[in-house]
Order: sequence, then structure tokens, then C-alpha cells
Amino acid sequence: MKFPSKSETRDLLKFASEIAREAGAVLKYGFSQRLSVRYKGRIDPVTQFDLKSEKLITSSITKQFPNHAILAEEGTDVEMKSAYRWVIDPLDGTVNFAHGFPIYCVSIAVEYNEQALAGAVYDPERDELFSAGFGMGSRLNGQKISVSSETKLERSLLATGFSYKVSTDRKNNIGLFGRMVKTAQAVRRPGSAAIDLCWLAAGRIDGFWELELHPWDTAAARLIVTEAGGKVTRMTGWPYSIFDRDILATNGHVHRAMKKVLTGK
Ligand code: IPD
Ligand code: CA
Ligand code: CA
Repeated sequence: MKFPSKSETRDLLKFASEIAREAGAVLKYGFSQRLSVRYKGRIDPVTQFDLKSEKLITSSITKQFPNHAILAEEGTDVEMKSAYRWVIDPLDGTVNFAHGFPIYCVSIAVEYNEQALAGAVYDPERDELFSAGFGMGSRLNGQKISVSSETKLERSLLATGFSYKVSTDRKNNIGLFGRMVKTAQAVRRPGSAAIDLCWLAAGRIDGFWELELHPWDTAAARLIVTEAGGKVTRMTGWPYSIFDRDILATNGHVHRAMKKVLTGK
């Protein structure tokens, strides 16, 4: 099969953007409703709106593209012998959402043979749609965006996050967080990895790292960062796949300095 053309990629991006907005509207409504929260682990919540959002997204995809594979956080795995795979986080930032803390989003990516073709991340609280098509640049509500030009780590605003296993996992990021806080200008913990990455793409922060992420957290936003001119690797500087757990994403200029703080090398 031939690699998808620009016009096919554009159509997939349009479709992903539309369903991200639709699912975002469901989340925005849910944000003001009484939530039923169930726990997947000690502190890892899932609400009825994670599930409603996933249902809406995956049923739209299977209707439009019945032969495409799907990997979604809340359990929709459609295994197909297809080069196309959709990777979905129906609600990234569930802890924030469940507390009424307004930083959360929908994240939808479509890949062709594991190459991200199109990614859409929609933040319903700010009505911000971040999107990118492979080789086509990144946009925020239709306007081109690019990463910052900051070159000094000391002047850089960074973001990170902690996994749900923070209390039991040795790789819990607390030591690295301490080191980075002392080196950078400041470090934030917004609570949605996809938004962190999109804000990097838009130049609002200069770097991001995290240790225990899942494919759906980064599949769309990683493309949005690289298409905005940013750099995404593992913390060691090795090439990053969405199935790797650790990530280092920067504007490119502070990559080496962040890697040094994180790995000592
Ligand atoms: C979480 C968020 C958070 C990150 C966690 C993720 P979820 O995703 O992206 O910022 O620190 O590692 O699991 O559970 O809200 O979809
Ligand atoms: Ca997530
Ligand atoms: Ca989620």
C-alpha cells in the first residue's frame, strides 16, 4: 500500500479535529455535572465522561473507517490487519476534571504503519484546538504555531507530571523534579500530558519530560510538537516511540541541557 497522500492526510486531520471538538463538547458539559468516579487503581480515576467521550470517538471512527485499528485508553481495542491505527485518550487530565480544575483535553491521533499522520488535541475550557498533519506544520485554531526560541535552561519554563504509581514506583520523578526546579526558571505540573506538549508546541513552555506515560497520552501531541519545530526523544536522547514510557520534548535549544539534568550525561 502507498503512503497516504497530502490530501488524504488533510481529510483524516479534518475528521480527527471534528470528532475531538465533538467529544470536547461532551466533556465541557460533563465538567458542570455530578460525576460518578470509579478507581482503576489507588488514585487513578475514571468518570462516566471518560467513557462517553471514548464511545463517541470510537463509534464515529468505526462508522467512517470500518477497517482501521483502534487503541483507546478506556478499553476500545479494535484489532485489524490495517496500516491505519487510531490512538485515543478520550479525557487526558481526569484527576483535574474530577476536581473541577479546568485543565483537561481530548487527544486523537491516526497513524499509518506507526508513523503519526494526523493529531488533534482539543481543550474545551479554552476552546483551543491544536492540530498537525505529517509534513504540514502545527496549528492552534487554524493559525500556525511554533516552539519558543529560548536557549537557556535557566530562563526556561518547563512542565512535567507524575504517574499514578508515584507512591510505590522507584522511578517516581520526585528526585528529577527537585533537580530541575533548581536548574530551570520554573517547573509546572498542569496535569494533562497532551496539553503540556501542545503548550510546548505553541511556545508557552520550553520543555517537558515525564517517566511513565502511555501511547494515548502522547500519540497526537508528539506530532504537534515535532511539526511545530520541537524535538521529541527519550530522556536518554534516543528515538522515542509512543510505546516508550519516558519522554523528553523541548524547543530543541534546551534539549541537551535538560537531558544532562535528567540523566547526568
Ligand atoms: C494522566 C495525565 C497526567 C500525567 C499522567 C497521565 P489521564 O492521564 O496526562 O498529566 O501526569 O501520567 O496518566 O489519566 O488523566 O488520562
Ligand atoms: Ca492520559
Ligand atoms: Ca485518560
